[in-house]
Amino acid sequence: MLVCSCNFITVKEIEETIISLLDEDCWQLIVPAKVYHAMEKRGRCCGCFPNVVDIIIRTTEAYHNGRPSTEADIFDFMARLKQFHEENRRADLERRQKSHRAA
Ligand code: FES
Repeated sequence: MLVCSCNFITVKEIEETIISLLDEDCWQLIVPAKVYHAMEKRGRCCGCFPNVVDIIIRTTEAYHNGRPSTEADIFDFMARLKQFHEENRRADLERRQKSHRAA
């Protein structure tokens, strides 16, 4: 099934890319831009990104099911997730302040 009509990317291609990223580091944070970069593609209209996020969540969940995880793995992942959200929120705030000043 086609997910990205701009780049003609299927669900299967996205799932395979996510799995190869998880094989490199199973606790890394995967976002649509990272998946597209690994595929040497770029989001154009980015209308597919919400669906890509759903595929990332579903594929990551399936990947981790049945694999042993330690509390340290989970703690490290949660710390990186928190840092990622903080950086995104800060960048979003800065972007809003710049656009507000320009207006
Ligand atoms: S539908 Fe994927 S970038 Fe446009």
